[in-house]
Amino acid sequence: MSTNTVDNKKKVTTASLAKMKAAGEKIAMITAYDYTMATLVDQAGIDMILVGDSAANVMAGYSTTLPITLDQMIYHASCVKRGAERALVVCDMPFGSYQGNSDVALASAVRILKESGAEAVKLEGGAEIRESIEKILSAGIPVMGHLGLTPQSINKFGTYGVRAKDDAEVERLISDALMLQEIGCFAIVFEKIPAALATRVSEMLSIPTIGIGAGSGTDGQVLVLQDMLGMNKGFAPKFLRRYADVGTVIEQAVGKYISDVKAVDFPNENEQY
Ligand code: KIV
Repeated sequence: MSTNTVDNKKKVTTASLAKMKAAGEKIAMITAYDYTMATLVDQAGIDMILVGDSAANVMAGYSTTLPITLDQMIYHASCVKRGAERALVVCDMPFGSYQGNSDVALASAVRILKESGAEAVKLEGGAEIRESIEKILSAGIPVMGHLGLTPQSINKFGTYGVRAKDDAEVERLISDALMLQEIGCFAIVFEKIPAALATRVSEMLSIPTIGIGAGSGTDGQVLVLQDMLGMNKGFAPKFLRRYADVGTVIEQAVGKYISDVKAVDFPNENEQY
């Protein structure tokens, strides 16, 4: 059961997220990449579903998010959208679909909304992609920002460690966050930054902030579904809380099925025509 104070049945919009921030109600966001999972998290009462480019890792097995394509993101987002009735569906713009050319960025975002039905897009970065974000916003497409650790820049950073630990990066993050709010983004993800900084910037902003590895002072939280369900046993960062051990449940169920098949115990007389 969720504990929403905002109407539990009503479709979530960017406007309702703004109201949640104003009312002090925390926002729960989770990733999903397929129809079945989307129906389950939507029925559980999640506020926002992120079709993350983390699909490159958890669905496709790549070591970074860079290889996933626009067509693949549109496919995942369209699957999710068919399963999500209440949650706001946000789709990540993949690496290469928005950087450096605002016309390309707009065309990519339009394709995402038209072909998948997702209701908003998320882009990684600040001042360096301002023109692309403005162009997308000018078409009436809601944009979520993403600051701090931006995994599409892994080759620049070199590690997936905590960001904004020195003064220069702190200043840049604050000015990027203020700029994203000023040009019209409806929310910003803060990934892997110190909790005190995330709290401070969340208090400065009137738009909601969503944290991952950014402490409890943001206006909401996001986790990768497979990680929080315990389906990705090798991944155990400090910020991750495991809410279930679905990986073990699957292994045990499939193990039992295999032994039943081998022992000719499945199917039995009631399970045949
Ligand atoms: O791709 C993703 O799943 C994300 C979240 C980690 C915020 O961007």
